[in-house]
Amino acid sequence: MTAAVHREDVAPARAAPVRMPGLFGPLNPPFADYRGRRVWVIGASYGIGAAIARDLLARGARVTLSARRRDLLRSVAGKNRDALIAPLDVTDVASVHAAAGLIEQAWGGFDLALVVAGTHVEMRAHLGLVIGGGAVELDAPHWDLARARQLLEVNLHGVLNCVDAILPVLARQGSGGIGIVSSVAGYIGLPRALIYGASKAALINFTESLYGDLRPQGIGVYLINPGFVDTPLTQQNRFTMPALMKAEDAARVTLDEIAAGNFEIHYPKRFTRWLKLLRVLPYRLQLAAVGRATRP
Ligand SMILES: NC(=O)c1ccc[n+]([C@@H]2O[C@H](COP(=O)([O-])OP(=O)(O)OC[C@H]3O[C@@H](n4cnc5c(N)ncnc54)[C@H](OP(=O)(O)O)[C@@H]3O)[C@@H](O)[C@H]2O)c1
Repeated sequence: MTAAVHREDVAPARAAPVRMPGLFGPLNPPFADYRGRRVWVIGASYGIGAAIARDLLARGARVTLSARRRDLLRSVAGKNRDALIAPLDVTDVASVHAAAGLIEQAWGGFDLALVVAGTHVEMRAHLGLVIGGGAVELDAPHWDLARARQLLEVNLHGVLNCVDAILPVLARQGSGGIGIVSSVAGYIGLPRALIYGASKAALINFTESLYGDLRPQGIGVYLINPGFVDTPLTQQNRFTMPALMKAEDAARVTLDEIAAGNFEIHYPKRFTRWLKLLRVLPYRLQLAAVGRATRP
């Protein structure tokens, strides 16, 4: 079931013009103190989202924890009275709207929604060796359209489903913020990330556009691009991950930088700055550098 968003539902509550940032200073309204703020974390049952939820609760925020696994959400929340559990599946838009409704009922809305949920499927475009009519896998899962679509369903369409539920609430309030977790894998094409990288590149582009649309309406928009963080998602990787971070450190940097009003939040800087440099190189240099750095 798709919940349509009507024009009158999304009209901003306050029509007052918002001063846009100049050349200096933060791109978003600083979020000075999390105490008492209502934050919705989607993808909070384990990994980075769980670490963010725990950190927020420790900072005194009221946190709604969402993901599919209710038991895990409960264990992240512990006995904290400022935690609300709202299970959902991001691929099921009705369940996402139901969770948003639950938060509005309980807390009247939210000051910040963080869409962290995502998944990873390693994939390469290797054609494989054909022996006796059967394809033999080389060193990684090969091209698989069904798995590619499944990944996009969670990482891209799932995020759009969340945005569909978040926007009307922010518009009614005329305040608040939305943060979307993408990845540095969206900066440039990397091996083993054939579809994952494409889903994250789409999210980077989408969030940039979202900023242009929502910031003039007084809404904060945050783009979160982690490098490698130690979570169940990366524990399946079979290669050495440079500058691997702990989930707790990723959570702390994310929340500190949102509080500071940054737009793009990327970490760890000693890794992400190299990728940013690669992104602006001419393709001849960029592709050669990526090939050399990721050769097995
Ligand atoms: N770890 C890294 O190095 C890294 C780097 C860059 C970007 N990222 C991004 O950061 C985000 C979190 O990554 P992570 O490493 O913490 O991943 P993770 O350990 O696999 O955790 C993923 C979270 O997303 C939830 N989730 C997955 N599918 C869902 C669905 N269909 N509906 C609702 N929730 C769903 C999971 O909960 P349930 O299974 O309970 O639903 C879990 O809470 C992802 O978007 C990932 O792409 C991670």
